[in-house]
Amino acid sequence: MQTLIAPSILACDFGRFGEEAHAAEIAGADWLHLDVMDGHFVDNISFGPEAVSAIRRQTKLPLDVHLMISRPDHYFPRFVKAGAQTITVHVEADHNVAATLAAIRGAGCKAGLCLNPATPFAAVEPFLSDIDLLLVMTVVPGFGGQKFMGDMMEKVSAAADRRRHEGFGYHIEVDGGINAETAAIARQAGANVFVAGTSVFGQSDYAAAIRTLRQRAA
Ligand code: DX5
Ligand code: ZN
Repeated sequence: MQTLIAPSILACDFGRFGEEAHAAEIAGADWLHLDVMDGHFVDNISFGPEAVSAIRRQTKLPLDVHLMISRPDHYFPRFVKAGAQTITVHVEADHNVAATLAAIRGAGCKAGLCLNPATPFAAVEPFLSDIDLLLVMTVVPGFGGQKFMGDMMEKVSAAADRRRHEGFGYHIEVDGGINAETAAIARQAGANVFVAGTSVFGQSDYAAAIRTLRQRAA
C-alpha cells in the first residue's frame, strides 16, 4: 500500500496551529495527524473541534483525527463538522465500537480503530472488516516524544497478515516514537502510514525530515 507520512500537530508550536499545518503541507506531508485528548482517557488535554476547524481553514491536507477520549461516540460528529477525513477511535474507550465505526462511515468519513500497547490484537479482530484504518500505538498515548515500543510490531504483522489473507483494505498506521530508524522497522512489519510528531515538528527543516522518513519507510 501507499506510504503516507502524517506529521502530528501535537509537536508543533501551539500558538501557530494554522501556519504549522500549512508548513507541513508545503513540506510534503500526506496527511495531518491531530491528537485529541480529553484528560480522562489519557492523562493529558490537547485541543478540540474548534482547533481542528481552524487548522482545516489553513490546509488542504486530509485531517487524520485520533480521538483519545472516553466517549468518541458522543463527540465524533463535532470533528466531522470540523472537517476531518479520517476519525480514529480507541477499542478501549467506553462505547459500542461497531456502532461508532458504522456511524463514522455513515457520516462520510473514513473509520479508524486504535489499540493501546497493553491491548492484544484479538481485541480489534472482530472489527477488521468494518474499518478503513488500524492504528497500532507504539507508545502509551498521551504525550509526544516517547520511545518506540518495538514489541508492538507483532500486532502490525498480524494486521498485515489478516489484510493479505482476507483481502481487507485498511491502512496500517503506527503512532509514537516514529523516526527514520523506527519507520523502517514498522514498514518491514507491514505498516504504511507513519505518524511523526517530534521527528518532523521538532526539526528545523520539515521538508528534509519528511523526505528522510519517506525514504526509510518506502
Ligand atoms: C501520542 C500521540 C502521538 C504523538 C506522537 O499520544 O498519539 O500522535 O503525537 O509523537 P511523537 O512522534 O513525538 O512520538
Ligand atoms: Zn496520535
